[in-house]
Amino acid sequence: MSLSEQQPCVVVTGATGYFGGYFVSALAKHYRVIALARSADKLAALKAQNSEAAQINIDTQVCDLSDLQASRDLMRQLMQTNNIIGLVNNAFPLGKATGFNTPEGALNSINTDMVSQAFCAGALAPLVLIQEFGNALMQRGAAGKIVNISSMYASVSPDPALYEGKTTFNPVSYGMTKAALEYLTKYVASFWGAKGIRCNAIAPGPFPNTEFESENATRDEPFLARLKAKNCNHQVGHPSQLIGALTLLLSDDAEFINGEIIRVDGGWTVR
Ligand SMILES: NC(=O)c1ccc[n+]([C@@H]2O[C@H](COP(=O)([O-])OP(=O)(O)OC[C@H]3O[C@@H](n4cnc5c(N)ncnc54)[C@H](OP(=O)(O)O)[C@@H]3O)[C@@H](O)[C@H]2O)c1
Repeated sequence: MSLSEQQPCVVVTGATGYFGGYFVSALAKHYRVIALARSADKLAALKAQNSEAAQINIDTQVCDLSDLQASRDLMRQLMQTNNIIGLVNNAFPLGKATGFNTPEGALNSINTDMVSQAFCAGALAPLVLIQEFGNALMQRGAAGKIVNISSMYASVSPDPALYEGKTTFNPVSYGMTKAALEYLTKYVASFWGAKGIRCNAIAPGPFPNTEFESENATRDEPFLARLKAKNCNHQVGHPSQLIGALTLLLSDDAEFINGEIIRVDGGWTVR
């Protein structure tokens, strides 16, 4: 391994998305980051948008998580050639393919292909990456930290009143997948905790993307107002408010935190 490959490194999936950009910039201050996403152009833009100093710490890899074998092969190869100590499973296809923002995604019409696609990239791919990450570390007797990005919708259903008069909403494929991801989090914590692999999740509340174009961006002011009004603190979140939980869970300060789901939701799930 070269000197840079020996540096402690964290793999972040969904690195080019709304959360991913903030995650990568924050983590590049402490670790080498390997940023994964489907689009090479967006990965290049992600690297360019960081300072020159941070860019040194950011490597990128194109990876479509719906191809499970290719994702497994990539993770295995990355584990062999880098000192990877952390894995952040953050990617999710928040678009029409999984039932978002299309009338077809409604409960009475969503098709099983949409649910399968959500489950594949959002739960099976994290399992595959976790297997390669954990197996490689355990072979070396090394410790590791996994952070899965879940959602408030793993534990509560969307409120239909939020979506009155809209044809866009959060489909059932999403919460089903996130509930599975939270279960996976606890299972990994249970079986691999004694081997030094910690696995936790962050369950963000409402963090509507109002900053850049994506399939899931929104500028629907009445909807944003409804989201805010429903939350305990009458606010929606910003990705910068997730960085504290993320860096804590990846750090040794969280040595005794394992199998935890940290809710960062302004209180959404308390009622
Ligand atoms: N935003 C919210 O309100 C919110 C709330 C709770 C939880 N979350 C969770 O937080 C995470 C990030 O959300 P976000 O708002 O940042 O989403 P986003 O802006 O839509 O970004 C999604 C990211 O995932 C990648 N991705 C999607 N499908 C992929 C696939 N098949 N293979 C590889 N990469 C894929 C995208 O890369 P490409 O563009 O290259 O395809 C992109 O980098 C997700 O797990 C989401 O469920 C979000």
